[in-house]
Amino acid sequence: MTVPHSPVKSSTYLEAVKHRRTVYGVTDNVSVSDDRIIEIVNEVIQTLPSSWNMQSTRILVTLGKEHKRFWDAVIAAAKPFVLEKQGEEDWKRNEDRFKSFQAAYGTISIFEDHTAIEKLHERFSKFPITVFEGFAEHSNAMHQITLWTALELEGLGASLQHSHFVPGVEDGIRSAFSIPSTWSVKAEIVFGGLSGEIPTVPEKEPVSTTVKVYR
Ligand SMILES: Cc1cc2nc3c(=O)[nH]c(=O)nc-3n(C[C@H](O)[C@H](O)[C@H](O)COP(=O)(O)O)c2cc1C
Repeated sequence: MTVPHSPVKSSTYLEAVKHRRTVYGVTDNVSVSDDRIIEIVNEVIQTLPSSWNMQSTRILVTLGKEHKRFWDAVIAAAKPFVLEKQGEEDWKRNEDRFKSFQAAYGTISIFEDHTAIEKLHERFSKFPITVFEGFAEHSNAMHQITLWTALELEGLGASLQHSHFVPGVEDGIRSAFSIPSTWSVKAEIVFGGLSGEIPTVPEKEPVSTTVKVYR
């Protein structure tokens, strides 16, 4: 078997991996075109692996005005629950946070389609469906990190959000963007133009604690 030539060195790949950071306070002033953003999303979803190639990941891209509408939908859906359960002060804090995301340029929401998981489970029904649900989550997270990194390599700032954990928000997103009922949202990547300093690398546990090597 011949080994295919790789156009990219592992050191280049790791540089890209290390370049990614959680960046807040991004703006809606971006120099990357919508077409390029869509191209990145399409390439990622066409490339990333999934268990038995089940392809359970789905993506919603909202840009510009549609991104603003996305966060209007989140705010409207979150408000009743947060106000009732946590009160006015907590709502104000949440609203400010959502508005800071709305000030960005785009949101890429990453979903999983449960019908793809059920289809794979039919092939391997002796295993509990939770096994395949776990694999779907792993694949979904691979899409998340790849998109997040790619956006930042374009010179944008991005963060990974889970605003859908507020009860009602997932349904709010679903109805605002005609999302099928079998899709469930796993994460939202909020991105836009850089407005300040890039945060420093957070401290990590020493590899002597986190990595075991036998050789
Ligand atoms: C699975 C996962 C979930 C996360 N959820 C959130 C989130 O909901 N909101 C947020 O602001 N950051 C979230 N983050 C970002 C982390 O807080 C951040 O990655 C971590 O502090 C390390 O910083 P870095 O991204 O700059 O390396 C999440 C990260 C991961 C990997």
